[in-house]
Amino acid sequence: MKRFSSLFCLFVLMLLVSGCRGERSEKTPFHLNPNMDFQAKFKAQSFSQKPPEGTVQWGSERSFSDSSTRADAIKSDSVFYKGKNEDGTWVNKVPSEVDAAFLIRGEERYNIYCAVCHDRTGSGKGLVIQRGFAPAPNLSEDRVVALSDGELFGVISHGVRNMPAYRKQIPEEDRWAIVAHLRVLQKVTRSSISDVPHYMKSEVQ
Ligand code: HEC
Repeated sequence: MKRFSSLFCLFVLMLLVSGCRGERSEKTPFHLNPNMDFQAKFKAQSFSQKPPEGTVQWGSERSFSDSSTRADAIKSDSVFYKGKNEDGTWVNKVPSEVDAAFLIRGEERYNIYCAVCHDRTGSGKGLVIQRGFAPAPNLSEDRVVALSDGELFGVISHGVRNMPAYRKQIPEEDRWAIVAHLRVLQKVTRSSISDVPHYMKSEVQ
């Protein structure tokens, strides 16, 4: 009797275990050892988390979910993405709104990416140049001042002669912010005491 009941228990147990596998069911079959078979996948270098609805990840205000949407955007807005008008001429003015926050962002990005060579004042005597990199011009000299905003955007994007390109590291919005900051640098370094309003002269002299 004891033997029968233990055999019966074994039978019921086998039924239960086998019943867990391969049964036609709308529900996912019971998976004893999932071995991480089912999990969210992300491509290497992609953002690893889906941002919550209605939010934008820090630093990726203009990122695209795939390259074709970015390619479309580039085609439809050559002013912003290439610094060029429809007819291929350089854009004259920064196409973003230049306010205090934009200029602060531009200064910060300039100090991160450009000052190593051009130094914070744009003199062209940054550490990398001091250590023997090809000479860089003073960014406030007439020739550079005469470049349009679009041309400066082009220099940052594609580099020029000995200067490397920065389009991979710096998103378009930030490149324009750097251009806006460059204009501030030029204005500040090229101005003289006569540009200071009379009521502030005592503060600077
Ligand atoms: C690795 C050093 C280096 C860095 C970093 C660098 N530059 Fe330059 N830059 C140069 C050199 C060298 C030149 C001179 C190129 C030449 O005439 O051969 C130059 C030239 C320029 C010019 C003059 C272009 C012209 O037509 O003569 C501008 C404007 C400029 N850089 C802006 C920038 C800005 C803005 C950044 C930051 C995004 C930057 N550079 C980062 C080395 C650098």
